[in-house]
Amino acid sequence: MARMVINPNRKLSKINKEIYGHFSEHLGRCIYEGIYVGENSPIENVNGMRTDVVEALKAIRVPVLRWPGGCFADEYHWKDGIGPVEERKKIVNTHWGGVVEDNSFGTHEFFELCRQLGCETYINGNLGSGTVQEMQEWVEYMTFDGVSPMAELREKNGHKDPWKVDFFGVGNENWGCGGNMNPDFYANEYRRYQTYVRDYNAGHHIQKICGGANVDDYDWTREVLSTCFKHSLPAQHGFMDGLSLHYYVHPEGWEIKGSATDFDDKVWYKTLGKALYMEELIERHGKIMDEFDPEKKIGMIVDEWGTWFTCEPGTNPGFLYQQNTMRDALVAGITLNIFNKHSDRVKMANLAQIVNVLQSVILTEGDKMIKTPTYHVFDLYKYHQDADLVDSSIETQTIGVDEEWKVPNLTESVSIDENGVMHVTVTNLSLEESYDIDALITDWDVKDVKGEIVTEEMHAMNTFEEPENVTVKNFDGVQITERGVKFTVPPCSVLHLELR
Ligand code: AHR
Repeated sequence: MARMVINPNRKLSKINKEIYGHFSEHLGRCIYEGIYVGENSPIENVNGMRTDVVEALKAIRVPVLRWPGGCFADEYHWKDGIGPVEERKKIVNTHWGGVVEDNSFGTHEFFELCRQLGCETYINGNLGSGTVQEMQEWVEYMTFDGVSPMAELREKNGHKDPWKVDFFGVGNENWGCGGNMNPDFYANEYRRYQTYVRDYNAGHHIQKICGGANVDDYDWTREVLSTCFKHSLPAQHGFMDGLSLHYYVHPEGWEIKGSATDFDDKVWYKTLGKALYMEELIERHGKIMDEFDPEKKIGMIVDEWGTWFTCEPGTNPGFLYQQNTMRDALVAGITLNIFNKHSDRVKMANLAQIVNVLQSVILTEGDKMIKTPTYHVFDLYKYHQDADLVDSSIETQTIGVDEEWKVPNLTESVSIDENGVMHVTVTNLSLEESYDIDALITDWDVKDVKGEIVTEEMHAMNTFEEPENVTVKNFDGVQITERGVKFTVPPCSVLHLELR
């Protein structure tokens, strides 16, 4: 029997809803086909956005969406994507498959999508190949509510009222595809560009995200922060609201990556071990951030995370299309538990990517749409959004198939939402064992409990022929005890309990 201890009296930090954020890039079939089909498409749509996809995304309460990239962002010139669609420039998408980008999805379409989703907006600006003026004018175009050339242009293009930009990324991966910069050079560029990301509307601050490290590049974090914190910059309110971190799980490393669907037990544990590495990354980058920002005012923004496998055989390698199995469900469950536990520093995270690219929550084929196992985990975890993380722990054992890739059998996190309801999420990483859990809850008289679970064998996935192989099922094996609850968590599963 594994003992779990929950202390609801000890509220630790707020789990920002943005931790459950998503990322949409002009990459493969993410935007085009996956989300945007145009008003004249035979696929049911509202102003060009697929109704099936929008409805499915609303159901998991997508809180924020990042756009237009990724690497694409540092080559995106926003003026190409405004005005009459037929007059928009056709460009080549150099990063992703060399295909024609007709710019039919641009700024207006992005805000329309976020309106339909009811989510916050995260725009990623172009620092790598764009000018300061271009970035400044984009912000003015989107947000200024007065008389100015950009506000007039927006009105001419059919949108009199300004939109609300919640987050603005000042470049993306500027250590790589965003200009191959050194940290000191980027940090100075960040200082300059962010100056012109102005708050045009009194009372609304656009949160600025500085481009952070790739995986374990701790030098990048330290050097960027030390250059940014020199001289008078920190005295300016909101000069940096977030620092990003990117980390992808490739079971066989960056070069080989590994199949999305064909893997054995060893690769299962290896993949989950790599997902667990997120915790060390957050802690070590977080320690460096603490040196500069001990009050944790700057959020760690994990704006790209997820599995990145070898793309589906027979598909364009530049499109990064991959299937999604129970292994992805476990990666999602483990990672979201880690983010919850570190919500004192992690303020936003964006799964890469929302539709048809990497660890998507949705896959489409023509007019068909399926929800992936990862989708169902986001569905189970949605109750943590904006809830208070509370103190909890669980006894674990080390499991795995060889010495190198040992993992704990269980992970968990617990929150209490605004209605005083407790949400417990548990992942069981074992392929064979179920575990009995005795959860002791301090000062909490459990009156009612509901459970739901995502569990199947490790290779289970949803296909266009069999879209319901992996879904959320009721879990009614919970017993109320004198001091909490007892339950048995089956192998290869992600569980959510709601306690009142
Ligand atoms: O998500 C795919 C790509 O991964 C993004 O464009 C880039 O930022 C990262 O390297």
